[in-house]
Amino acid sequence: MNRAQIQPFFDPATWTVSYVVWDPAARAAAVVDPVLDFDFKSGRTSSTSADRILEFLRGQDLAVQWILETHAHADHLSAARYLQERAGGKIAIGERIRDVQAIFRKLFNLEREFLPDGSQFDHLFKDGETFAIGALQATALLVPGHTPADMAYLVDGSVFVGDTLFMPDVGTARADFPGGDAHQLYRSIHRLLELPGETRMFVCHDYPPGGREPRWETTVAAQREGNIHVGRGVPEGEFVRMRAERDATLEVPTLLLPSVQVNVRAGRLPPADDNGVAYLRIPLNALPAKG
Ligand SMILES: [Fe+2]
Repeated sequence: MNRAQIQPFFDPATWTVSYVVWDPAARAAAVVDPVLDFDFKSGRTSSTSADRILEFLRGQDLAVQWILETHAHADHLSAARYLQERAGGKIAIGERIRDVQAIFRKLFNLEREFLPDGSQFDHLFKDGETFAIGALQATALLVPGHTPADMAYLVDGSVFVGDTLFMPDVGTARADFPGGDAHQLYRSIHRLLELPGETRMFVCHDYPPGGREPRWETTVAAQREGNIHVGRGVPEGEFVRMRAERDATLEVPTLLLPSVQVNVRAGRLPPADDNGVAYLRIPLNALPAKG
């Protein structure tokens, strides 16, 4: 019996979909992939998106048990810390976040106190670990490829897949970020496609083609049948070739450098300088050149 209630929150600035998933009897909730708004031009963060979630939680009288990150996002800053300070809950991500932290500690030459040990998060999930949201059963699934640490969260017959699969007419996520791997991504996607066909699937982004309205919910069966990159048994070699060709044409996301510096800190801003202002770093000529 599926009892989980799910409310999406679409952020048109970053095409991100955050979710609240809750047990209606226990009034216990998890927030998945919340967004902290960021204006790169002015360097200002704001909380319009996160406040919509807070308002919803209050309106529904929900207690937050978990703030779940599917991965260290490269296109938006996480509002995990902002939400936790106001609504509580444990901030959790996959345990391989340590590998991602090590990559970005090196790239940004982060302060010595920043340890790539996952301690910035309240909980690190192992593959297959089970947890509860009220009385709802949930399982964390390791689905690397887009990054080395991606997790999907299966909650009571619904799966939150982060950036592995997108809607069937959009396809799949890029695999060219540091530590990404298209072979791994293919296998992770197939792990998700082996879930029961009726499993409801919720994606973390939508980039609607052809002027359609943004959508974020599909099913495992619909993905198996209709996903333009992996549907109807596309073989691994063909997928990897397609991904490599496509990724070579994609620009670095506008907010990659700001996002990952905040997201490897579980949504905390970097420590302030001695003038009280926190700064983000831009590594010059350090990311690999394209093409
Ligand atoms: Fe992502």
